[in-house]
Parts: sequence; C-alpha cells; structure tokens
Amino acid sequence: MKAHDIAYLVKEKLHIPHDLRLADVPATLRTKPVSPSDVKDVSTEARESMPLLAQMAVDAGAGRPFVKWWHYFDAYEEQFAALAEQSREGKLDRPLRILEMGVWRGGSLDLWRQYFGPEAVIFGIDIDEVILTLGIDSAEVRVGSQTDEGFLRGVVEEMGGVDLVIDDGSHQSKDVIASLRILFPLLSDGGRYVIEDLHTSYWPSWGGGFKRKGSSIEALKELVDTLHQPYYARSRRPGALGLERDTLQSIQFYDSVAVLKKSPHPAPQPFRGGDHSRPEASI
Ligand SMILES: C[S@@+](CC[C@H](N)C(=O)[O-])C[C@H]1O[C@@H](n2cnc3c(N)ncnc32)[C@H](O)[C@@H]1O
Repeated sequence: MKAHDIAYLVKEKLHIPHDLRLADVPATLRTKPVSPSDVKDVSTEARESMPLLAQMAVDAGAGRPFVKWWHYFDAYEEQFAALAEQSREGKLDRPLRILEMGVWRGGSLDLWRQYFGPEAVIFGIDIDEVILTLGIDSAEVRVGSQTDEGFLRGVVEEMGGVDLVIDDGSHQSKDVIASLRILFPLLSDGGRYVIEDLHTSYWPSWGGGFKRKGSSIEALKELVDTLHQPYYARSRRPGALGLERDTLQSIQFYDSVAVLKKSPHPAPQPFRGGDHSRPEASI
C-alpha cells in the first residue's frame, strides 16, 4: 500500500481526527486502535461467498483506488441487488440515475458503473477540482459542494432527475443534513438516499458526538418519529429535516449507513380480514 493511500485511509476513511479523544472513540474500537493494518484482507476468503458488489470491488485490482467499509457491501447487496441486475440487463423502463457525492480518486464511480451497468446515468460531485484531471470516464464528474443548493439542483437537472443518491462526501453532520434537505425532495418516486460513514456523527471533529443534538445520526433518528406522525399528531407538518412523512416510505439503519426510501406513503388504514359478522367477532 502506498504512503498516500495510507494517509487517505487514516484521514478520510478510518476517520481518525487529529484531535481524537479516547472518550470519543466507540467502545468497540477502544481496545484495538484503528490502523491501516485493520484493512480487510480478502486473500483467504472464497470469492463466491462474497456479495456480487464485493466481488466486483475485489476484482477492481489495478483500477482506480477507492475505499468502502467491507460490511457496506452486504448492505448494498440487500438494498440494490435486484435493481442493479435489472439495470445491468437493460430491463428498467428508463436508465437508473445515480449521484455520488464524494468522488475522491474515482474508484467508487468505476465500481458503480460495473454494478449498475452501461445504461445507468452516473454523476459524481466533489469539492476538489483534482477530479477533473483524473480522466474519469465511468461517470460524469462535476466540481462543487454538497451543500450548494443551486449547484446540486443544476446537476440533478443535467442528470434528468435522480433515483439514487450516495452521500460519501465530507461526512460533516451539517453537510450531510444540508444535502439531505436539498436532495431528498428531488428524488424520484421509489428513489433511495444512502448516507455512508455515519460513525463520524459520533465524533466531535465531524460535528457529532454520542446523542449530540444536531448530529446527523440524531437527525436521522428523528425521522423514525416522522414516519409515525399520524399516530401522535393531527397536522401534516413537515417532520424532521423538513421531510414529508407522505413521501418517506422507510428509513433503514445499518452499521454506519442509512438508507431512506422515497415513495408515496398514504395515510395508514387497517384492513379487516375474514367475516366480521361471525359470532366470534363480537365476543
Ligand atoms: C470519503 S471521500 C470519497 C470516497 C469515494 N466515494 C470512494 O468510495 O473512494 C470524500 C470526498 O468528499 C469530498 N468532499 C469533502 N467536502 C465536500 C463537499 N462539501 N462537497 C463535495 N465533496 C466534498 C472530498 O474532497 C473527498 O474527495
């Protein structure tokens, strides 16, 4: 592994802040400091037992560098296996439109291209202009911030809409929240919004902290209440993060990853099955 790759891992992906305090480190990591030597070793694992996306990641070999935490591949496979297969096989009504925030060296865009196939419309955005010099050809790349509403709107317009957002950008809680507020309403029906590396929301250097108000994980937890709004509030005010319960179908949490699904979410209605005129119904 090259020195700059190690520096990247430590700073950007293992997220070891320069001012890290022991109290901020999750208990599971305290006993064993995170270091680049903790990086997943796949040399002894059977390729066939890995999810397809992990196989593709392993096969990237000499391709552009990228880093994804290993357990994300299971989450992605659970969420996207069927959709990705349809996309790869050209069986969708229209091409899938994917926006990744945080390009770094372009390796993840290459991975998405392989996973979602040649027809997918894939855009990557990054605040670092270096992405324009890397010859990335698996996706369109645009320079700008994930918090710049005008820029994001312009990119989504250029894409012709967006079905899947992957936030792998700054991981600062305020940026994660700002992007979600801007982009969730722009998602198509059935679209999904993925936020990676939510462990950063527990760390002060990323604007987080355990149960700290305003951290991205706390804001996302509030969406659980938004989902259940009809059971405790009559009004249909926007819920947490300005998101409407009527369009938030679900929120799923994995280790460090959240997946929000946008879809019409009608008022809850009970269904009465069986014959309610039967005598036992009135016992
Ligand atoms: C974790 S890396 C992305 C890694 C890449 N997706 C991969 O899997 O290899 C984070 C990237 O986000 C970019 N970034 C930081 N702040 C940003 C912002 N406000 N808007 C857009 N990108 C930002 C950084 O320049 C960096 O390239």
